[in-house]
Amino acid sequence: MLDTANNPTRPIALDLQDIHKSFGSLAVLKGVSLTAYDGDVISILGSSGSGKSTLLRCINLLEKPNQGRIIIGKDELMLKPAKSGELQAADIKQLEHLRARVGFVFQNFNLWPHKTIIDNIIEGPIQVLKIKKDQAISDAEKLLDKVGLLDKKDAYPANLSGGQRQRVAIARALAMQPQVLLFDEPTSALDPELVNEVLAVMRELAAEGRTMLIVTHEMRFAREVSSKVVFLHQGVIEEIGTPEQVFDNPKSERVKDFMASHRQN
Ligand SMILES: Nc1ncnc2c1ncn2[C@@H]1O[C@H](COP(=O)(O)OP(=O)(O)O)[C@@H](O)[C@H]1O
Ligand SMILES: [Mg+2]
Repeated sequence: MLDTANNPTRPIALDLQDIHKSFGSLAVLKGVSLTAYDGDVISILGSSGSGKSTLLRCINLLEKPNQGRIIIGKDELMLKPAKSGELQAADIKQLEHLRARVGFVFQNFNLWPHKTIIDNIIEGPIQVLKIKKDQAISDAEKLLDKVGLLDKKDAYPANLSGGQRQRVAIARALAMQPQVLLFDEPTSALDPELVNEVLAVMRELAAEGRTMLIVTHEMRFAREVSSKVVFLHQGVIEEIGTPEQVFDNPKSERVKDFMASHRQN
């Protein structure tokens, strides 16, 4: 299905064109095209195994697509074919540069266990953005304050709850001043009572106009925050549109069934 939903005049933050990805003989993405304009919040829904994580991971080449184009802001990621049949970065410096503009928040936080919370956050800005340590610390403190965890700056990840760890992971992603934030089921590993504190932070980011792609099963949240909703099925976009279109008037029977089984009151 072509992405013809609300195409505004805002600049493009991220453009994926005809992304294909196979693992051996298993074709997981079969030509996905998706455009995020500045400030778009795009929720990606779909059954387990439909290719949602693979799609997000292709954006910064955590998975190498077999075909397709990836444009971040005004820059196209330069790709060249590898012997494996996958595409690889043609220029490692450019890949590093573009990767730094894409923040990734994983289901399992991926914090460094042996580093304090503040050290987890300043590592990227110092190493990659070459920001001076004092500045990185003061920026990190502001971000920790924003996610409500300034008092935990000298703690270690093991001393935090899952919800707190995920809020740190969000602060860490923000510290890189990304153009786009990717979230892969950020609340799926959390106890139910910790989900809302993470969604609250994400709502705030959406309200600030951050560009975000979010894989989630939190339907009510997706409906509230999204400018666009994508339903992925077996590696293709089965349906795309505004939340009203996809949640209330899905055209596809498959999307109707999915919505019926994920209804949240
Ligand atoms: N590294 C991998 N090697 C082989 N198969 C994989 C790999 N990653 C994902 N897959 C397969 O690709 C399909 C899509 O996976 P994934 O993108 O994780 O789906 P989703 O996030 O929608 O649940 C699944 O069949 C999964 O088993
Ligand atoms: Mg997944």
